[in-house]
Amino acid sequence: MATFAAYSAGLPAAPAATPVATTPPLDNAEALKARIDRARVPLHVAIIMDGNGRWARQHGEMRVVGHSHGVQSVRDTLVGATEIGVKYLTLYAFSTENWSRPRAEVDALMDLLVNTLVSELEGLHENGVRLHTIGDTDSLPKDCRATLLKAIQQTAHNDRVTLTLALSYSARWELLRAVRSIATDVHSGRIGLHDITEALVDDRLTTAGMPAPELLIRTSGEQRISNFLLWQIAYAELWFTPVLWPDFRKEHLFQAVLDYQGRERRFGLTSDQLTEG
Ligand code: FPP
Repeated sequence: MATFAAYSAGLPAAPAATPVATTPPLDNAEALKARIDRARVPLHVAIIMDGNGRWARQHGEMRVVGHSHGVQSVRDTLVGATEIGVKYLTLYAFSTENWSRPRAEVDALMDLLVNTLVSELEGLHENGVRLHTIGDTDSLPKDCRATLLKAIQQTAHNDRVTLTLALSYSARWELLRAVRSIATDVHSGRIGLHDITEALVDDRLTTAGMPAPELLIRTSGEQRISNFLLWQIAYAELWFTPVLWPDFRKEHLFQAVLDYQGRERRFGLTSDQLTEG
């Protein structure tokens, strides 16, 4: 089985992260990784990948160049997530709202998705990655759907890490879909009102069967959720970084996980209750 180190060997050297005065300099990846408590690694990390356009502008390039550099960040982050034992990595790759971008950019993003899947599929498979999607994938172009289906089928039995791409996804779309599905069942008498529980709603979301993300990362300095996994992140820790997505590397993921491990997750309880418990 190929190692993830070999898989990531083709990566270009990480470009320096966009300098921002408030960002402390990063230790190297190994030093950060060594400090992570493997017993408390979040099972599920979700990421809002943002800042590709700004990265491109800063480098005097077209926006699509930023997206294409973002693929290297996806690879490196996936490698890092696997190294520390994250089991689910969910990436916001294309939102329902992104359909309103200029046609040329939407087409370029779809082409990038197809080309990336085609070129990465073997590497993903050999490294035990299971590919999964959430979102209204029926609305994607035909070649995109076909490539995704092939990749999902080929990797279906892998269990090292599940990489979920949110494509044509928005949380409100997903919640409406769940509400309609539950209402239909109530209307037909298949279930009663008392059967509507949190577990039932969980089951009707596109993330059914996945644990809720414990850590949500957003790059590029924006501090918004932008219609991503609204139900699922009820208790997630949020981590925002000014680093633009094409500059994001596993070092940043490790930094986020270390920060996560330093937080007290109370789930509505008091600190004393947690200590006693
Ligand atoms: C947001 O940056 C990013 C996107 C809408 C697309 C994300 C896509 C990738 C990282 C590339 C491919 C991914 C896969 C999984 C193959 P933005 O364009 O909104 O940046 P801006 O806010 O600076 O304009």
